[in-house]
Amino acid sequence: MFSRRLLQAAATTTTGYCTKSVPRQSRLLFTSSEKPEWYEGIAVVSFNRPSTRNALGKTFMSQFRKGLAELRFDDSVRVVIVRSLVDRVFCAGADLKERAQMSPSEVSRFVHSLRASFAELEALPMPTIAAIDGAALGGGLEVALAADLRVAGAAAKLGLPETKLAIIPGAGGTQRLPRLVGLARAKELVFTGRVLDAKAAEKYGLVNVAVDGVAYEKALEIAREILPAGPVATRMAKLAIDKGMQVDISSGMAIEQGCYAQIIPTEDRLEGLRAFREKRTPVYKGK
Ligand code: COA
Repeated sequence: MFSRRLLQAAATTTTGYCTKSVPRQSRLLFTSSEKPEWYEGIAVVSFNRPSTRNALGKTFMSQFRKGLAELRFDDSVRVVIVRSLVDRVFCAGADLKERAQMSPSEVSRFVHSLRASFAELEALPMPTIAAIDGAALGGGLEVALAADLRVAGAAAKLGLPETKLAIIPGAGGTQRLPRLVGLARAKELVFTGRVLDAKAAEKYGLVNVAVDGVAYEKALEIAREILPAGPVATRMAKLAIDKGMQVDISSGMAIEQGCYAQIIPTEDRLEGLRAFREKRTPVYKGK
């Protein structure tokens, strides 16, 4: 089971977080070890590459993709939180040192794979939350844009500064940002490369909520609020919203119908009705 494996991995290290198989300079962490009773069903992906401020390099991205692939097929995971363990930084975006060594064709290939990786994050079947406690710049913000929800803490700084480096956001930023905050605001942010603090990001609609404290704590609170919902229903709701938003509304209604059809035969749907009748809390099994 995913959570048991994570707990075992945590027990093998002095930090209590990283797995032995992952190189130290580029750790990606999957842990449920802090307060296990609170973490049932929540997978926490923690970025921890302090030397480059979690910059998105080749090794980092290959581990990220492997982690995503594991989460995708784990039915015990109801919510995924992506956060950073590096102080005051969520993710510094593209690894600019590595990038400087790449040929033009390598850059093109790597940016393509970044885009594909974030699409994989976006396509995870369960709800995802980016907990932004620090700088989320360039590709760092693009990771967060691929999550379903974003929470910004007091230390958050969010921006797409690519045009200042004479490039454009290339891992979904030019597409997801306008869909999230609207055309004019997205253009303003991309053309100027402006960096927003948490409150401004909330005002722009870039994050769901800005908190004065730690975003990760708020993300956990939201995740716990999602946990009691029917797991299949949550996944189907995500699918219906995501797919429906890409098409005209009548096609979207057909998508909704298709998603609903998958819920009708579930045991959980009947359990919800029974629990209502019996005035008790439903116990959902994700079946
Ligand atoms: N790629 C590679 N290395 C990076 C990096 C990046 N995107 N961002 C930071 N680093 C490295 C720095 O070069 C530095 O390495 P050094 O110690 O060998 O000199 C180290 O991380 C610490 O950087 P520093 O700027 O001192 O950290 P900070 O905590 O003061 O600031 C940031 C953190 C993220 C705000 C700042 O590093 C920054 O603005 N980075 C660039 C972000 C960016 O423009 N990203 C968009 C890419 S399109």
